[in-house]
Amino acid sequence: MSDHELRVSKIRNGTVIDHIRAGQALNVLAILGIDGSDGEEVSVGMNVPSDRMGRKDIVKVEGKELSQNEVDVLSLIAPDASINIIREYEVAEKHRLERPEYVVGILSCPNSNCISTEDEPVDSKFEVLSDGVRCEYCETIIRDDLAAHISVK
Ligand code: CTP
Ligand code: ZN
Repeated sequence: MSDHELRVSKIRNGTVIDHIRAGQALNVLAILGIDGSDGEEVSVGMNVPSDRMGRKDIVKVEGKELSQNEVDVLSLIAPDASINIIREYEVAEKHRLERPEYVVGILSCPNSNCISTEDEPVDSKFEVLSDGVRCEYCETIIRDDLAAHISVK
């Protein structure tokens, strides 16, 4: 993409989540626990033209590098995304997402009797299936709309 086509400006230090499936940018922000209330510098592009994907979403977060748990849940909601770590304006690292075996934290179990949803210091843990995720504690399966089960920290 040439510079005159760039819609959201380059960032200095932080993370660019690129090639997000169109329509998923707000879910990506939810996974990262970003709603703007902490003063984070965030740019979001939605339905921007992409050679590879037709249309894509893109999220740029200044001053934040992602945790492995965040990356794991992202890979379920935005499987085609690439994660670029930016340092001093340069792409320092570029990662394609891989489907993890398990996701820990971030998603919450819909079963209110599940030990992971009670006031215990137990992180949620789901096994990743081909068509959903299964709670390790109570075996509840979430098949559709994973994004509705994101618990913001
Ligand atoms: N980017 C940014 N700020 C920087 C450097 C890069 O916001 N200081 C963004 C670019 O706009 C792009 C993404 O990070 O959306 C990846 O940058 P780069 O690897 O240079 O772009 P491409 O080669 O197009 O990436 P890909 O091969 O993943 O399509
Ligand atoms: Zn459960």
